[in-house]
This record gives sequence, structure tokens and C-alpha cells, in this order.
Amino acid sequence: MCGIVGIVSDNNVANKLLDGVKRLEYRGYDSVGMVCINSNKLVIKKDAGKIEEVDKKVNFSELKGNIGLAHCRWSTHGSPTKENAHPHFDCKSKISIVHNGIIENFSELKEMLISKGHKFNSLTDTEVIAHLIEDNFKGDIEEATSAALKQIEGSYALGVICADSPEILIAARNESPLIVGIGKNENFIASDVAAILKHTNKVIYLDNNEMAILTKNNVQIKNIDGEIIKKNINEIDWDSELAEKAGYEHFMLKEIHEQPRAITETLNGRIENGNINLANELNFNERELKNISRIIIVACGTSWHAGLAGEFMLEELAKLPVEVEYASEFRYRNPIINGNTLVIAISQSGETADTLAAIREAKKKGAKILSIVNAKGSSIDRESDSVLYTFAGPEIGVASTKAFTTQLVVLYLFTLYMSSIRDSLNKETIKDLMGKLRKLPLEMESLLSKEKEIRKIANIYKDKHNALFLGRGINFPIALEGALKLKEVSYIHAEGYPAAEMKHGPIALIDKNMPVVVLATKDIYTYKKVLGNIQEVKARGGIIIAIASDGDSEIKKLADHVLYIPNTLYILSSILAVVPLQLLAYYAATDRKLDPDKPRNLSKSVTVE
Ligand code: G6P
Repeated sequence: MCGIVGIVSDNNVANKLLDGVKRLEYRGYDSVGMVCINSNKLVIKKDAGKIEEVDKKVNFSELKGNIGLAHCRWSTHGSPTKENAHPHFDCKSKISIVHNGIIENFSELKEMLISKGHKFNSLTDTEVIAHLIEDNFKGDIEEATSAALKQIEGSYALGVICADSPEILIAARNESPLIVGIGKNENFIASDVAAILKHTNKVIYLDNNEMAILTKNNVQIKNIDGEIIKKNINEIDWDSELAEKAGYEHFMLKEIHEQPRAITETLNGRIENGNINLANELNFNERELKNISRIIIVACGTSWHAGLAGEFMLEELAKLPVEVEYASEFRYRNPIINGNTLVIAISQSGETADTLAAIREAKKKGAKILSIVNAKGSSIDRESDSVLYTFAGPEIGVASTKAFTTQLVVLYLFTLYMSSIRDSLNKETIKDLMGKLRKLPLEMESLLSKEKEIRKIANIYKDKHNALFLGRGINFPIALEGALKLKEVSYIHAEGYPAAEMKHGPIALIDKNMPVVVLATKDIYTYKKVLGNIQEVKARGGIIIAIASDGDSEIKKLADHVLYIPNTLYILSSILAVVPLQLLAYYAATDRKLDPDKPRNLSKSVTVE
């Protein structure tokens, strides 16, 4: 869950490395470091802390050299200290490496290396790689790296440079993500395209057990035995502007505001004359889709919440049985899967280790895999039988916002597509439901214009220690998501609960200090019951913040605050209802003087299990 960037160029690389690692900061921000080769010597600067703080202290831009590596860390082995920060180096300070992943046999390797006289400076698993390469070094850094990799067990995305070969940058991958960027008179490695998009949109995705050997004018991909592999060069169609803050104070706020555009892009080309056009994207034919008897959705975090909403959509409209699993738990059960089971993996990054492991397990058991992914070319994208992309663009804020709403949109599109194939809805109904979806971006725009109102409420309650989020039906996952957003970025303890289930526990917590956010949009299923739940909270002195449908005057009499959202279809109202909750969380965090883009201990891309 660290970020890696490496450059070999005909120019000084320090500023580009610094810019690149800043763009990867969402992957880890407990320590940062950089190394360049200057006059055949490694020069390393590193320390614990966020990039901005460490940069002020050490001034990374002062580094000189046309080749270098940078790393931002989210610690696994060894606490965040200067010594444990990457880059790491060998005994003679000739070889330097940055690493993302976990070396599982590091204790044995460390013992072996210590017995051979190697001296270690840190408590990390990573440092053994530098010493192992040194141990295998007979004058050729590529050979030494490849020999070391054969001794390593575990996951890695690796960047290696050697003071004796200042023109070569070596990269290697097993399980952790790594891409190679092809530039002009310079080439790159990075954990994620966001780091290098400013310089190139041409990338090669490394696969497991592949190495890349980069010079400023050449890139060669080899397997671990040194055989050359031919790889495709992919062109990324993300606009590099999207990876900038564009005047917003934080990426999180910018990304909340980008949702109408992201939804429009996710819909583009997928609706034709009121029909859903997914056939050309899905690698399953109609017969295969008709034969699906069961769906299992696997995901983590916010994407798991999208999965819960997807369960509601698919069961309600496509009449398909659905189960939603935490990807991390999926492998430790014995799920019943056959050739007619469709496993849907949902992931913004496409790199979440548990989700990736879950689809591999499902594949082994014979399931078809459909993924809903934002990052094209990611591991989950490449390992799935079929992929439906969310066109949210790069999401940098650690707390997921636009990825979530676009995931819901894709799930809705897929649901309607399945409904039409399986004849669970007639053509007219589908057209009508599609029409409502089309209006969503505009409705969201109008909702975002109420930001000030939401901000006021966030400010009133920013110093509370706890909050409860309640919802029923499809609004239950939205309540979970609202609670997750608030705790992630403001550190206020928050729980999401099915509104009725509140009576079986959380009601004991309600007093005059407890804000209770209730999703109370008008629908034929749950509205009246939710009003009852609001009464129960009020009777115990709780504070009600209601998310309600425009024009609902009844709720005003009960709630302390009402945030209105446009009237739409019940299922789609959940996509709108999450927006005020994202803004509540954002403003609670910023009013508490916290940085919502870098919440403590969290990483955007969890590439370890
Ligand atoms: C981390 C992120 C969350 C994200 C989750 C799943 O916890 O902080 O924002 O929802 O991982 O990530 P994925 O990329 O698989 O959607």
C-alpha cells in the first residue's frame, strides 16, 4: 500500500519524482524518501511524516541526478521511522531499492544474510531485498536482481538502481501493482498512472514475475529467467487535469463535485434509444447471461456498500438471487459456486488484494467473473472474464466518493440489462427507468448547490463524539456509507444501522448528544416505517438530521434538520442521498481542521491482504 515512482532520464529527475510521489500520497503517508545517483554515488533523503513536512525538512529538490526512485510508505513491517522509510540500501550503499508489498520469508533471508556479515539498518522486510541483491551481485545489476527475486517469497512491486550502473533502472512485479511509462528521452515506473500522467499516457502493465529494464531510451520486459517478453503499450485516456485539484481545497471536495460529470461519462454510449447497450462490453453471450442462477458480489470498503445496493437492485428488478461478501472473508468460507454462478467484483482501484484473491478463488471454482472497475489495466480488470468500467476518472481522495456513485450507476445499468435479457421487466418499464437515470446528473447538480446548508449542519455537530446513520431497504447501504465517510475523515465514531434494527441495541446510546442521520426519502416501501423510527429517536432526546425528498413537509415537523434531495425513483434516490452525507463528512473533517484527503492510518489502495 505504498507508492513507488522511478525515472531514468536525460535530465535531473528530483522534481518529477517529488511531483509523482505527491500524486501517490493517497497510497501511504507515514514516511517518504527519495534516492538519486549523482557522480556514481547514491544520495538518499528520507524521513517519517507526510511528504510536505518531510520535504520542508530535507528539501528533496536539492537532489541531483538523471536517475532516481521515490517512495511513500504505509507501514506494515516496522513502525514509521526514518530508518524504516524507503529507499533502502545495501551494506556498501551501492544498491538502492523501493518496495511495495510483503516479503513473507524475510526472517529466514535476514538470518542468512546476517550470518554472511550483512548489516541491517531497519526493521523492515524490504531491506533484505537490497542485501540479497548485493549478495548476488557480480557486476551486473540485472542478473543480481533476477537471482535475488528467485529467493524471495511474497508480494512486491520493486524499483532498483545501482551506483555502478547509473543508466539502468530495474523494476519487478509480483502481486503488487506496477506500471512502466514510456516517455521521450525518459522512462518511468510507477504504482499508478496518476504519478506519471503529466509526462506520458503510454504505459505497459507489468504482470506477475516480470522484470522491466529501463534506460532513458529503451524499455525491455523480461521474465524472471531473463527471457524477453513482448508486451502491448496501452494509451491511457484519462485527462491529466483530472488528477489536479483545480482550485478546490481538497481532492475529496473536488471529487464530490465531479459526480454529475462522472455519472454522465459512465452513461455515455451505454444507452441507445432508451435501450441499454452493454452487449459489446460484456464477454458473455445472452444465453450465458440467461443461464445465470446466482450472483455473488465481492468487494471491500465503500465498494462493498455499492455491492449491497446492487443486491437490492438485482433482486428487485432482475429477480436474481444475490449474496454480497466481504472479499476478505470469501476465501475462508466454502461458497457454493458452479458454472452458472456469476461473481461480480467491485473495485475502484482494481488492485485491492482481498478482492483480487476472491476472484481468483471464484475462478478456480468455475464461476464467471464480471468486474466493475475504475482503473483500466489494473489487476482485477485484467484477470476478469468481463469488465464494466466506471468512468469516474482518477480518484485521489482516500475516501471514495465519485467511484461509489458511478459504481451504483453501473450496477443499475447492469440490472436493467439483465432484466431485459431475462424478461423480468417489459421494454416500456425499462425505457421509463432509463429515462429517470438520464436525469440523475442534473438532479445531482441541483443537490450540490445546497452545499452551504449542509456545511452549516456539519459545523453544528462537528464536536460530537458519536453519530448514528439509519436507513431501510436500499438506503441501508447508504447509511453504512454515510457512517464510513464520517468516521474515515472526521474520526467521529459513527455506525450505520438498518433503521428498525436500531431497537436491538443502538437505541441504548441515544441521548441529547447523539446526532442521528436518517435516510427518509419518500417511497412506497419504507417511508412510513422510517417516520416511526424517527419518533423513537426523538422520544429519547436524539437529534434528527433527515435526508428527505423535495416537498416532504411532514418530516419537517419531526426532524431537527432536513436536507432535501430531488424526487426520483426509489432506487435512484439512494445515489442522490449519499451526496449530502459525503459533504457532511467532508465539512465535519475540515471544520475539525483535519485533512480529509489523508485520513490517519488509511490507504486508498489496500494491496496487502
Ligand atoms: C480502501 C479505501 C476505500 C475503498 C476500499 C476498497 O479501504 O480507503 O476508499 O473503498 O479500499 O478499494 P477498491 O479500490 O477495491 O474499491
